[in-house]
Amino acid sequence: MSRTVIHGGLVITASDEIHADVLVEGGRVAALAAHGTDAAAGWTAERRIDATGKYVIPGGVDAHTHMEMPFGGTLASDTFETGSRAAAWGGTTTFVDFAIQPRGGSLREGLDTWHAKADGQCAVDYAFHMIMSDVNESSLREMDKLVSLGISSFKLFTAYPGVFLSDDGQILRAMQRAASNGGLVMTHAENGLAIDVLVEQALARGERDPRYHGEVRKALLEAEATHRVIRLSQVAGAPVYVVHVSAREAVAELARARDEGLPVFGETCPQYLFLSTDNLAEPDFEGAKYVCSTPLRPKDHQEALWRGLRTNDLQVVSTDHCPFCFKGQKELGRDDFSKIPNGMPGVENRMDLLHQAVVDGHISRRRWIEIACATPARMFGLYPKKGTITPGADADIVVYDPHAEQVISAETHHMNVDYSAYEGKRVTGRVETVLSRGVPVIEERTYVGHAGHGAYVPRGICQYTN
Ligand code: URP
Ligand code: ZN
Ligand code: ZN
Ligand code: ZN
Repeated sequence: MSRTVIHGGLVITASDEIHADVLVEGGRVAALAAHGTDAAAGWTAERRIDATGKYVIPGGVDAHTHMEMPFGGTLASDTFETGSRAAAWGGTTTFVDFAIQPRGGSLREGLDTWHAKADGQCAVDYAFHMIMSDVNESSLREMDKLVSLGISSFKLFTAYPGVFLSDDGQILRAMQRAASNGGLVMTHAENGLAIDVLVEQALARGERDPRYHGEVRKALLEAEATHRVIRLSQVAGAPVYVVHVSAREAVAELARARDEGLPVFGETCPQYLFLSTDNLAEPDFEGAKYVCSTPLRPKDHQEALWRGLRTNDLQVVSTDHCPFCFKGQKELGRDDFSKIPNGMPGVENRMDLLHQAVVDGHISRRRWIEIACATPARMFGLYPKKGTITPGADADIVVYDPHAEQVISAETHHMNVDYSAYEGKRVTGRVETVLSRGVPVIEERTYVGHAGHGAYVPRGICQYTN
């Protein structure tokens, strides 16, 4: 069995920071031993990685991506191949993408389509959630089967009427089913019907610029839908996980429900923590680069998100990576903001941006690993295989240089998209080396992986104890 030793680094997990050497054997973590001890000195290995002065952290778990997602007549520009490679460059070794049930079709059809897109293409490991766009008796029954196949979470939308929207009765039924089969309902919480009225009225007034995307998708309408899905989940006796939370009013709804002891969880994304409606207002249609839903909010919402991450009212930071090129894709909405494909790139930037949050004092180092690796793995039934460094875990390990300086740019990133949402941003910290199940994928800033190394990972059920 091939053995690797990573020595001299500071091993950081969600619970500990220890100066330890890590022994990897056959793709898994075999042992940790205090650096400098006889035990560690006695390990023989084919490969030794010097992590002196560096962090040794679990590979990132990005619980929210959309590779090749069809939206608004086009496809998200990262394929499973390009997107998974970019994930590796950014220190993410597992991502959970959203398979989509076609309207009028079955969950199984959606799942087969997504398997066919991803199979043999990925540089790092991946799993699937299922978007339910057609809740009916048959798809409700199918949920049980999917949970048993390792697709244990289901995204439902209160937004996008006519495309993804489920009504309250459908959402309640899906939650009831999840309560009985161990599944977790995830919700995109915005009042889509009300938003469509505001879109129509804005366009009638001649308001066509990207910044109106942020104005019509009101924080109050995110909060209202968040409140609604929380209460529906309470009635169903099921947990709920609210994706891409951006409004402080929505965080308040989550916090209130958690204070009541309800199993409700929230995810936010780097774009809501680092960007704002100022970006949406950039001139010459540049604001289109930042069109996503839920939308970016005014800057003063950011502190509520950081606070939520510190108080555990928000538990996970995922990217909602859903890139569309500025040229040819975002441009579809040049004369009408409602036709701009919704989504932003970020799978490569998440670990670095959250490390910058450590440097800036928003969160601790262990909290960085908790929200980016351990909790998403727990929440989606991947822990402790993924999300931590402990004997028996997959050796998905990143050697991270906390002192290296870099400038984020589309010129140097590896995502298949012609702009960066963080162009010119300076961050401290950089991924050096990445192992996926013990195999180097990035070695001292060089890509040494290949499409097909990444494997599909069936998931267990949600472990939502925190
Ligand atoms: O704008 C976004 N978030 N696009 C991806 C689809 C979704 O709603 O997550
Ligand atoms: Zn050592
Ligand atoms: Zn969504
Ligand atoms: Zn999404």
